[in-house]
Amino acid sequence: MTSEKPVVDVTPEVIGEPNILSQRLAALRRQGKTIGLVPTMGALHEGHLSLVRRSRQMCDVTAVSIFVNPTQFAPGEDYEKYPRVLEADLEALASAGGADFVLAPSPAAMYPEGFDAHVHIGGVTKRLEGECRPTHFDGVAVVVLKLFNMSGADVAFFGQKDYQQAAVIQKMVRDLNLQVKIEVCPIVREADGLAMSSRNKYLSAEERAQAPVLKKALDLAKEQIEAGNRDTADLKHQMRRLISAVPSAAIDYISIADPATLEELDSVGGPAVILLAVKIGATRLIDNIVIP
Ligand code: PAJ
Repeated sequence: MTSEKPVVDVTPEVIGEPNILSQRLAALRRQGKTIGLVPTMGALHEGHLSLVRRSRQMCDVTAVSIFVNPTQFAPGEDYEKYPRVLEADLEALASAGGADFVLAPSPAAMYPEGFDAHVHIGGVTKRLEGECRPTHFDGVAVVVLKLFNMSGADVAFFGQKDYQQAAVIQKMVRDLNLQVKIEVCPIVREADGLAMSSRNKYLSAEERAQAPVLKKALDLAKEQIEAGNRDTADLKHQMRRLISAVPSAAIDYISIADPATLEELDSVGGPAVILLAVKIGATRLIDNIVIP
């Protein structure tokens, strides 16, 4: 019986049907096991694996979902070309100590014929990514709510890399009284500062060499704030100048915002988060840094 499989086992049970995952996890919950959920779109890298490791530390059972979620991509975005590499993902998971379950459903298993539900979280979704990608967070919210419900997870793990996404999920949990704890884990970076992302694979060698400018701009602002510069207009101007010197870079936004509400700040008087989205060639990258 799979529900009796040992909960520490590097080889996960790979499941395509959400209902099967629900049954497996319900059986384990009845035995008193705590469930950790790590939602991903696959093409797993060290950033994802850091969430899996954290889940294994905190929870008895770890379920990783690998699903390129169509509802969070707008027409013309990279849904079709998004990397789908399940075999490599399973190897990466094994190298990181494994998971108990991998949910790798088809789009039809997640969104069966006739599916017609919508989850819209207000407030924190309006600006930044929500402005550049108006349908994005509705797609994220609906799929994450489904994953929470089908797993019954005690704890779900998200990366600070997608700062606004984590804020949206936290707001959804609060607003809808979901009984899942959200753990936000630090950004894992390449040696040169570039935040790890499945989309880094799209970069040409030349673009890859230029991509660390996002982190450089964040560090510049952080240093300036630490040196006493409170003027967000000036800070953003300096970041803009640094990024604009890179030929392949086109800025979508630079924001210095309240870490809780993501409202823009005129001056930095307390905690802040600096967020940016920059296209490097055709590849859109996001990054952020929290100023305590
Ligand atoms: P994906 O981009 O695959 O990311 C899955 C999780 O890994 C997210 O919580 C993300 O913030 C985290 N992550 C990505 N890169 C990271 C890094 N460099 N360091 C730390 N954490 C990192 O985000 C999504 O998928 C989707 O929107 C999803 C939540 C799965 C819903 O479809």
